[in-house]
Amino acid sequence: MKTVCLGTGYVGTVTAAALAMAGHQATVIDIDKQKVNSINAGASPIFEPGLNDVISLHAGRLLTASVSLESVREADVIFICVGTPALPDGTADLRYVKDAARSIGENLSLERFTVIVNKSTVPVGTAALVASIVESVSGGEAERHFTVASNPEFLREGYALEDVLFPDRIIVGTQHPEGLARLRELYKPYVKRLIRIPDVLKPYLEGAGGQQETVYFETDTKSAELIKYASNAFLAVKISYINEIARLSEALGANTAHIARGMGLDSRIGEKFLEVSSGWSGSCFPKDTQELWTTSRKYGAELSIVRAAMDSNEEMKHFCVRKLQRKLKSLNGSCIGLLGLTFKPNTDDVRETQALFMIRQLLELGAQVRVHDPKGMDHFRRLYPDLPVDYCESAEEAAERTHALVLMTHWEQYLQLNWKMIFYSVKQPYILDTRNCLRGAELREMGFDYEGIG
Ligand code: UDX
Repeated sequence: MKTVCLGTGYVGTVTAAALAMAGHQATVIDIDKQKVNSINAGASPIFEPGLNDVISLHAGRLLTASVSLESVREADVIFICVGTPALPDGTADLRYVKDAARSIGENLSLERFTVIVNKSTVPVGTAALVASIVESVSGGEAERHFTVASNPEFLREGYALEDVLFPDRIIVGTQHPEGLARLRELYKPYVKRLIRIPDVLKPYLEGAGGQQETVYFETDTKSAELIKYASNAFLAVKISYINEIARLSEALGANTAHIARGMGLDSRIGEKFLEVSSGWSGSCFPKDTQELWTTSRKYGAELSIVRAAMDSNEEMKHFCVRKLQRKLKSLNGSCIGLLGLTFKPNTDDVRETQALFMIRQLLELGAQVRVHDPKGMDHFRRLYPDLPVDYCESAEEAAERTHALVLMTHWEQYLQLNWKMIFYSVKQPYILDTRNCLRGAELREMGFDYEGIG
């Protein structure tokens, strides 16, 4: 099939790459020439494990990138994969979605039927909004010349290929017969697991696929739109819950890791998303919970549980700062080393990262801050150029002369650090591990004052 993805962000680039892997023709369109050139040259414009290999395999063949909207005319399926950042009032900013709808409308062929798909996370009713824009710009008629379906993307950054190639579920929201037929056809290789995985990708997909099956679920457009928000908010609630349990567990002297394990053994609860942190963050959970909460209020059906999770998440971030304060007494004049700037490992994404809150608090309290991240430093520096922090080339360097070392993101490489060397380079051997991922007992044996959460 001929497909087009509008947007070269995480969702657009990964979707297009996976469509090419499934044998479809994929054109990814963006106004950013640099990103377009990068894809055409066979290089991923974003850091995502394995993505570079897929793009280099398919670029110039099934996968192409362009700044021109020409391919819209010929497309069987067009995916809208643009960003929907939060506005100051908490609602999703649909500016880019509307721009995309206008661009599609301007280039749509009325000689053939086109299926337009919202992959971006968009509020309920956006499919109808896109349809009305495309209608008014193209002069065509919705459901006759085109249809707009909702097909939310559930990929996690850092595991995007695994999630896209071996999804647990594909949610398709449309009731148009041609829309249903075309998307069934498009997704057949994914559902039936027919996509050939090249050897070079296998290391990134270990553990993926296995016995699981992809459930292909069709519903109406509004329900599909809401499934995405409801899912993300539910996961956020789950993390906030274990984080609150961790706080209680710490007060009581219980073992949070054991509690999470014990809870997760109940298949109704499940073991995933019970990992303690200094709070959930990233480009999805904060904005999606905010949007869902704001919408629920607007419709007089307040999602108080989601609101509680948001408040609890804020409290979690403060809890970590307070823990540090308790240990060091005063942060004024102290030097703190921060390991990890990205909102989770295996990504260079630092949007809405927990580390930003921590850094701002530390600076406000008069501390000097040294930071390190394996992938996120450039992005962080670009997004927050005014933050007076010392960027360090290595974790060991970030630890030098510090009174406390705070692990924010559980990058694999932080588990292998030369802790003996670090012990001798710090001023005070205190470690706050907000992910409970380091080997605490070993570190204590070395002489560190090691604390996790809970
Ligand atoms: C999320 C959803 O998981 C994905 O399905 C959706 O498509 C987009 O939003 P993502 O934002 O990439 O994906 O990251 P995710 O792995 O869900 O983590 C979100 C945040 O929660 C991160 O800050 C992460 O560190 C934190 N987290 C996650 C925890 O604190 N504990 C956990 O157990 C899991």
